[in-house]
Amino acid sequence: MTLLQRFLDELYQRYHTLGDGTVASYIPELKKADPNWFGISVVTVDGRVFGAGDIQQKFTIQSVSKVFAFGLALESQGRDTVLEKVGVEPTGDPFNSLIRLDEDSKRPFNPMINAGAIATTSLIKGSGPTSKLNNLLSMFERYLGHEVFIDMPTFMSERSTGHRNRAMAHLMLHFDMISHDINAALDLYFQQCSVMVTCQDLAMMAATLANKGKQPVTQKQAVNPDYVRDILSVMYTCGMYNRAGEWAYRVGIPAKSGVSGGILAIVPGKAGIATFSPLIDKNGNSVRGIRVFEELSRKYGLHLFDLSMGRCVFSKATQDTSES
Ligand code: DON
Repeated sequence: MTLLQRFLDELYQRYHTLGDGTVASYIPELKKADPNWFGISVVTVDGRVFGAGDIQQKFTIQSVSKVFAFGLALESQGRDTVLEKVGVEPTGDPFNSLIRLDEDSKRPFNPMINAGAIATTSLIKGSGPTSKLNNLLSMFERYLGHEVFIDMPTFMSERSTGHRNRAMAHLMLHFDMISHDINAALDLYFQQCSVMVTCQDLAMMAATLANKGKQPVTQKQAVNPDYVRDILSVMYTCGMYNRAGEWAYRVGIPAKSGVSGGILAIVPGKAGIATFSPLIDKNGNSVRGIRVFEELSRKYGLHLFDLSMGRCVFSKATQDTSES
Protein backbone atom coordinates (compact mmCIF):
# COMPACT_ATOMS: atom_id res chain seq x y z
CA MET A 1 0.00 0.00 0.00
CA THR A 2 1.36 3.44 -0.88
CA LEU A 3 1.89 6.13 1.74
CA LEU A 4 -0.75 8.26 0.04
CA GLN A 5 -3.36 5.49 0.22
CA ARG A 6 -2.53 4.94 3.87
CA PHE A 7 -2.94 8.65 4.60
CA LEU A 8 -6.30 8.80 2.77
CA ASP A 9 -7.54 5.88 4.90
CA GLU A 10 -6.33 7.70 8.00
CA LEU A 11 -8.12 10.92 6.98
CA TYR A 12 -11.31 8.99 6.33
CA GLN A 13 -11.14 7.45 9.80
CA ARG A 14 -10.36 10.79 11.42
CA TYR A 15 -13.22 12.75 9.85
CA HIS A 16 -16.04 10.33 9.03
CA THR A 17 -17.70 11.04 12.38
CA LEU A 18 -17.32 14.84 12.19
CA GLY A 19 -20.94 16.01 12.26
CA ASP A 20 -20.58 19.78 11.84
CA GLY A 21 -22.53 21.43 9.02
CA THR A 22 -25.92 20.69 7.46
CA VAL A 23 -27.23 19.09 4.29
CA ALA A 24 -28.38 21.77 1.76
CA SER A 25 -32.15 22.08 1.70
CA TYR A 26 -32.96 25.16 -0.40
CA ILE A 27 -33.17 22.85 -3.42
CA PRO A 28 -35.73 20.38 -1.98
CA GLU A 29 -34.25 17.33 -3.72
CA LEU A 30 -30.82 17.86 -2.10
CA LYS A 31 -32.36 17.24 1.34
CA LYS A 32 -32.45 13.52 0.51
CA ALA A 33 -28.65 13.20 0.77
CA ASP A 34 -27.31 10.93 3.51
CA PRO A 35 -25.19 13.06 5.91
CA ASN A 36 -22.91 10.05 6.46
CA TRP A 37 -21.69 9.88 2.87
CA PHE A 38 -17.99 10.68 2.79
CA GLY A 39 -15.34 10.02 0.17
CA ILE A 40 -11.82 11.18 -0.68
CA SER A 41 -10.28 10.51 -4.09
CA VAL A 42 -6.97 11.32 -5.78
CA VAL A 43 -6.15 10.74 -9.46
CA THR A 44 -2.63 11.41 -10.71
CA VAL A 45 -1.90 12.88 -14.14
CA ASP A 46 -0.67 9.44 -15.23
CA GLY A 47 -4.06 7.95 -14.36
CA ARG A 48 -3.40 6.23 -11.03
CA VAL A 49 -6.43 6.24 -8.74
CA PHE A 50 -6.45 6.36 -4.92
CA GLY A 51 -9.45 6.66 -2.66
CA ALA A 52 -11.18 6.09 0.65
CA GLY A 53 -14.84 5.90 1.65
CA ASP A 54 -17.85 6.48 -0.61
CA ILE A 55 -15.98 7.37 -3.76
CA GLN A 56 -18.54 5.67 -6.06
CA GLN A 57 -21.63 7.28 -4.49
CA LYS A 58 -23.50 9.32 -7.12
CA PHE A 59 -24.59 12.90 -6.43
CA THR A 60 -25.37 16.02 -8.47
CA ILE A 61 -22.35 18.13 -9.31
CA GLN A 62 -24.01 21.52 -8.52
CA SER A 63 -21.62 24.48 -8.53
CA VAL A 64 -18.54 22.42 -9.34
CA SER A 65 -19.99 22.41 -12.88
CA LYS A 66 -19.28 26.16 -13.16
CA VAL A 67 -15.59 25.46 -13.69
CA PHE A 68 -16.24 23.27 -16.73
CA ALA A 69 -18.99 25.44 -18.20
CA PHE A 70 -16.56 28.38 -18.05
CA GLY A 71 -14.05 26.34 -20.07
CA LEU A 72 -16.71 25.47 -22.64
CA ALA A 73 -17.83 29.11 -22.90
CA LEU A 74 -14.20 30.14 -23.54
CA GLU A 75 -13.95 27.52 -26.27
CA SER A 76 -17.31 28.57 -27.71
CA GLN A 77 -16.79 32.34 -27.83
CA GLY A 78 -13.13 33.08 -27.16
CA ARG A 79 -11.66 34.95 -24.20
CA ASP A 80 -12.59 38.51 -25.21
CA THR A 81 -16.30 37.83 -25.72
CA VAL A 82 -16.58 35.88 -22.48
CA LEU A 83 -14.83 38.66 -20.55
CA GLU A 84 -17.28 41.22 -21.93
CA LYS A 85 -20.07 39.32 -20.18
CA VAL A 86 -18.45 38.12 -16.97
CA GLY A 87 -15.47 39.37 -14.94
CA VAL A 88 -12.73 37.56 -13.04
CA GLU A 89 -12.94 39.47 -9.75
CA PRO A 90 -13.73 37.76 -6.44
CA THR A 91 -16.76 39.18 -4.64
CA GLY A 92 -16.31 38.15 -1.02
CA ASP A 93 -20.07 37.60 -1.19
CA PRO A 94 -22.18 34.44 -0.99
CA PHE A 95 -22.55 32.34 -4.15
CA ASN A 96 -26.16 33.39 -4.65
CA SER A 97 -25.57 37.10 -4.08
CA LEU A 98 -28.10 38.95 -6.16
CA ILE A 99 -27.29 42.57 -6.56
CA ARG A 100 -23.56 42.93 -7.00
CA LEU A 101 -23.10 43.48 -10.71
CA ASP A 102 -19.97 45.51 -11.44
CA GLU A 103 -20.92 49.18 -11.18
CA ASP A 104 -19.24 50.27 -14.42
CA SER A 105 -19.45 47.25 -16.69
CA LYS A 106 -22.65 45.72 -15.23
CA ARG A 107 -21.01 42.33 -15.56
CA PRO A 108 -21.36 39.70 -12.85
CA PHE A 109 -18.08 39.60 -10.95
CA ASN A 110 -16.88 36.11 -11.90
CA PRO A 111 -18.02 32.79 -13.43
CA MET A 112 -18.01 30.91 -10.11
CA ILE A 113 -20.94 32.74 -8.47
CA ASN A 114 -24.44 31.95 -9.68
CA ALA A 115 -24.98 35.17 -11.68
CA GLY A 116 -21.65 34.74 -13.49
CA ALA A 117 -22.31 31.06 -14.11
CA ILE A 118 -25.72 31.74 -15.66
CA ALA A 119 -24.10 34.33 -17.94
CA THR A 120 -21.30 31.89 -18.82
CA THR A 121 -23.66 29.02 -19.54
CA SER A 122 -25.67 31.26 -21.87
CA LEU A 123 -22.49 31.59 -24.00
CA ILE A 124 -22.17 27.86 -24.72
CA LYS A 125 -22.43 27.32 -28.45
CA GLY A 126 -25.24 25.40 -30.15
CA SER A 127 -28.04 25.99 -32.64
CA GLY A 128 -30.75 25.55 -29.98
CA PRO A 129 -31.34 24.19 -26.48
CA THR A 130 -30.85 20.52 -27.46
CA SER A 131 -27.64 21.17 -29.31
CA LYS A 132 -26.30 23.30 -26.41
CA LEU A 133 -27.20 20.58 -23.93
CA ASN A 134 -25.49 17.97 -26.12
CA ASN A 135 -22.36 20.12 -26.29
CA LEU A 136 -22.41 20.49 -22.51
CA LEU A 137 -22.86 16.76 -21.91
CA SER A 138 -20.15 15.84 -24.44
CA MET A 139 -17.81 18.21 -22.64
CA PHE A 140 -18.47 16.45 -19.30
CA GLU A 141 -17.98 13.08 -20.99
CA ARG A 142 -14.57 14.14 -22.32
CA TYR A 143 -13.45 14.92 -18.76
CA LEU A 144 -15.02 11.83 -17.22
CA GLY A 145 -14.21 9.27 -19.89
CA HIS A 146 -17.73 7.82 -19.65
CA GLU A 147 -21.36 8.70 -20.33
CA VAL A 148 -23.09 11.24 -18.08
CA PHE A 149 -26.71 11.62 -17.02
CA ILE A 150 -28.79 14.42 -15.60
CA ASP A 151 -30.73 13.70 -12.44
CA MET A 152 -34.23 14.73 -13.52
CA PRO A 153 -35.74 15.05 -10.00
CA THR A 154 -32.97 17.50 -8.99
CA PHE A 155 -33.29 19.42 -12.25
CA MET A 156 -37.07 19.74 -11.84
CA SER A 157 -36.70 20.57 -8.16
CA GLU A 158 -34.35 23.48 -8.85
CA ARG A 159 -36.22 24.57 -11.95
CA SER A 160 -39.43 25.02 -9.96
CA THR A 161 -37.82 26.69 -6.92
CA GLY A 162 -34.86 28.66 -8.33
CA HIS A 163 -36.55 32.06 -8.19
CA ARG A 164 -33.44 33.83 -7.00
CA ASN A 165 -31.50 32.58 -10.02
CA ARG A 166 -34.39 33.69 -12.24
CA ALA A 167 -34.24 37.16 -10.70
CA MET A 168 -30.50 37.33 -11.47
CA ALA A 169 -31.14 36.33 -15.07
CA HIS A 170 -33.77 39.07 -15.43
CA LEU A 171 -31.40 41.66 -14.00
CA MET A 172 -28.64 40.57 -16.38
CA LEU A 173 -31.07 40.69 -19.29
CA HIS A 174 -31.90 44.26 -18.28
CA PHE A 175 -28.17 45.09 -18.51
CA ASP A 176 -27.73 43.16 -21.78
CA MET A 177 -25.33 40.68 -20.18
CA ILE A 178 -27.35 37.65 -21.28
CA SER A 179 -29.33 36.79 -24.41
CA HIS A 180 -33.10 37.20 -24.53
CA ASP A 181 -33.95 33.55 -24.06
CA ILE A 182 -33.31 33.55 -20.33
CA ASN A 183 -35.53 30.54 -19.70
CA ALA A 184 -33.37 28.44 -22.01
CA ALA A 185 -30.21 29.75 -20.30
CA LEU A 186 -31.63 28.96 -16.86
CA ASP A 187 -32.71 25.47 -17.93
CA LEU A 188 -29.23 24.76 -19.24
CA TYR A 189 -27.73 26.08 -16.00
CA PHE A 190 -30.05 23.92 -13.87
CA GLN A 191 -29.24 20.93 -16.10
CA GLN A 192 -25.49 21.42 -15.74
CA CYS A 193 -25.90 21.57 -11.93
CA SER A 194 -27.88 18.30 -12.03
CA VAL A 195 -25.24 16.23 -13.82
CA MET A 196 -24.55 13.07 -11.78
CA VAL A 197 -20.98 12.41 -10.70
CA THR A 198 -19.05 10.46 -8.09
CA CYS A 199 -16.19 11.63 -5.92
CA GLN A 200 -13.81 9.66 -8.13
CA ASP A 201 -15.30 11.36 -11.21
CA LEU A 202 -14.53 14.76 -9.67
CA ALA A 203 -10.93 13.72 -8.99
CA MET A 204 -10.64 12.56 -12.62
CA MET A 205 -11.98 15.90 -13.87
CA ALA A 206 -9.53 17.73 -11.63
CA ALA A 207 -6.68 15.49 -12.83
CA THR A 208 -7.61 16.40 -16.41
CA LEU A 209 -7.14 20.08 -15.60
CA ALA A 210 -3.89 19.25 -13.75
CA ASN A 211 -2.78 17.50 -16.97
CA LYS A 212 -3.19 20.56 -19.27
CA GLY A 213 -6.72 19.52 -20.17
CA LYS A 214 -5.86 15.98 -21.34
CA GLN A 215 -7.85 13.18 -19.68
CA PRO A 216 -5.28 10.97 -17.91
CA VAL A 217 -6.91 7.64 -18.87
CA THR A 218 -8.42 8.18 -22.34
CA GLN A 219 -5.59 10.58 -23.30
CA LYS A 220 -8.19 12.71 -25.12
CA GLN A 221 -8.08 16.49 -24.89
CA ALA A 222 -11.13 17.56 -22.83
CA VAL A 223 -10.52 21.30 -23.10
CA ASN A 224 -8.23 23.50 -25.16
CA PRO A 225 -4.96 23.72 -23.15
CA ASP A 226 -4.81 27.48 -23.84
CA TYR A 227 -7.75 27.96 -21.48
CA VAL A 228 -6.57 25.83 -18.56
CA ARG A 229 -4.70 28.79 -17.05
CA ASP A 230 -7.86 30.96 -17.28
CA ILE A 231 -9.88 28.27 -15.51
CA LEU A 232 -7.36 27.62 -12.74
CA SER A 233 -6.83 31.33 -12.05
CA VAL A 234 -10.53 31.94 -11.50
CA MET A 235 -10.82 28.82 -9.37
CA TYR A 236 -7.92 29.99 -7.23
CA THR A 237 -9.38 33.44 -6.54
CA CYS A 238 -13.14 32.71 -6.59
CA GLY A 239 -13.78 28.95 -6.33
CA MET A 240 -14.61 28.82 -2.63
CA TYR A 241 -16.89 31.88 -2.48
CA ASN A 242 -16.56 33.96 0.65
CA ARG A 243 -13.98 31.53 1.95
CA ALA A 244 -11.76 31.89 -1.13
CA GLY A 245 -9.14 33.96 0.71
CA GLU A 246 -8.96 31.62 3.69
CA TRP A 247 -8.70 28.63 1.33
CA ALA A 248 -5.93 30.28 -0.73
CA TYR A 249 -4.09 30.99 2.52
CA ARG A 250 -4.48 27.59 4.16
CA VAL A 251 -4.74 25.12 1.25
CA GLY A 252 -3.27 27.13 -1.62
CA ILE A 253 -4.41 25.23 -4.72
CA PRO A 254 -7.22 26.06 -7.21
CA ALA A 255 -10.49 24.50 -6.10
CA LYS A 256 -14.27 24.56 -6.49
CA SER A 257 -17.06 23.48 -4.18
CA GLY A 258 -20.75 22.72 -4.64
CA VAL A 259 -23.73 22.68 -2.26
CA SER A 260 -24.26 18.95 -2.73
CA GLY A 261 -20.96 18.49 -0.87
CA GLY A 262 -18.29 18.02 -3.52
CA ILE A 263 -14.97 19.85 -3.61
CA LEU A 264 -12.35 19.36 -6.29
CA ALA A 265 -8.88 20.83 -6.41
CA ILE A 266 -5.94 20.77 -8.76
CA VAL A 267 -2.28 20.16 -8.01
CA PRO A 268 -0.93 21.49 -11.32
CA GLY A 269 1.12 18.95 -13.23
CA LYS A 270 0.58 16.33 -10.53
CA ALA A 271 -2.97 15.29 -9.64
CA GLY A 272 -6.63 16.01 -9.11
CA ILE A 273 -8.09 15.64 -5.62
CA ALA A 274 -11.77 15.48 -4.64
CA THR A 275 -13.80 15.06 -1.51
CA PHE A 276 -17.50 14.44 -1.06
CA SER A 277 -19.54 14.96 2.11
CA PRO A 278 -22.98 16.63 2.01
CA LEU A 279 -22.56 18.41 5.35
CA ILE A 280 -21.83 22.01 4.30
CA ASP A 281 -21.02 25.19 6.21
CA LYS A 282 -22.73 28.57 5.92
CA ASN A 283 -20.61 29.43 2.87
CA GLY A 284 -21.78 26.32 0.99
CA ASN A 285 -18.49 24.42 1.37
CA SER A 286 -18.20 20.84 2.68
CA VAL A 287 -16.98 20.86 6.29
CA ARG A 288 -15.18 17.51 6.18
CA GLY A 289 -13.81 18.35 2.73
CA ILE A 290 -12.14 21.52 3.98
CA ARG A 291 -10.50 19.66 6.87
CA VAL A 292 -9.21 16.92 4.56
CA PHE A 293 -7.75 19.40 2.08
CA GLU A 294 -6.05 21.40 4.85
CA GLU A 295 -4.38 18.21 6.07
CA LEU A 296 -3.36 17.02 2.60
CA SER A 297 -1.90 20.41 1.74
CA ARG A 298 0.09 20.58 4.98
CA LYS A 299 1.37 17.02 4.82
CA TYR A 300 2.51 17.12 1.19
CA GLY A 301 3.39 20.81 0.81
CA LEU A 302 0.73 21.22 -1.89
CA HIS A 303 0.33 24.98 -1.37
CA LEU A 304 1.48 26.68 -4.57
CA PHE A 305 3.68 29.05 -2.58
CA ASP A 306 5.12 26.45 -0.26
CA LEU A 307 8.76 26.52 -1.29
CA SER A 308 10.04 24.65 1.74
CA MET A 309 8.95 21.11 0.92
CA GLY A 310 8.68 20.81 -2.85
CA ARG A 311 5.81 18.87 -4.34
CA CYS A 312 8.05 15.87 -5.04
CA VAL A 313 7.03 14.72 -1.53
CA PHE A 314 3.52 14.20 -2.89
CA SER A 315 4.75 12.32 -5.98
CA LYS A 316 6.89 10.09 -3.76
CA ALA A 317 3.88 9.29 -1.56
CA THR A 318 1.96 8.04 -4.62
CA GLN A 319 4.72 5.49 -5.27
CA ASP A 320 6.57 4.81 -2.05
CA THR A 321 5.43 2.05 0.26
CA SER A 322 8.12 2.60 2.91
CA GLU A 323 7.54 4.55 6.14
CA SER A 324 8.50 8.24 5.94
O1 DON B 1 -27.79 27.63 -8.41
C1 DON B 1 -27.74 27.02 -7.34
O2 DON B 1 -28.08 27.55 -6.29
C2 DON B 1 -27.25 25.58 -7.34
N1 DON B 1 -27.66 24.87 -8.51
C3 DON B 1 -25.75 25.51 -7.25
C4 DON B 1 -25.23 26.21 -6.04
C5 DON B 1 -23.95 25.71 -5.53
O3 DON B 1 -23.58 24.56 -5.61
C6 DON B 1 -23.21 26.71 -4.79
N2 DON B 1 -22.13 26.11 -4.12
N3 DON B 1 -21.66 26.11 -3.09
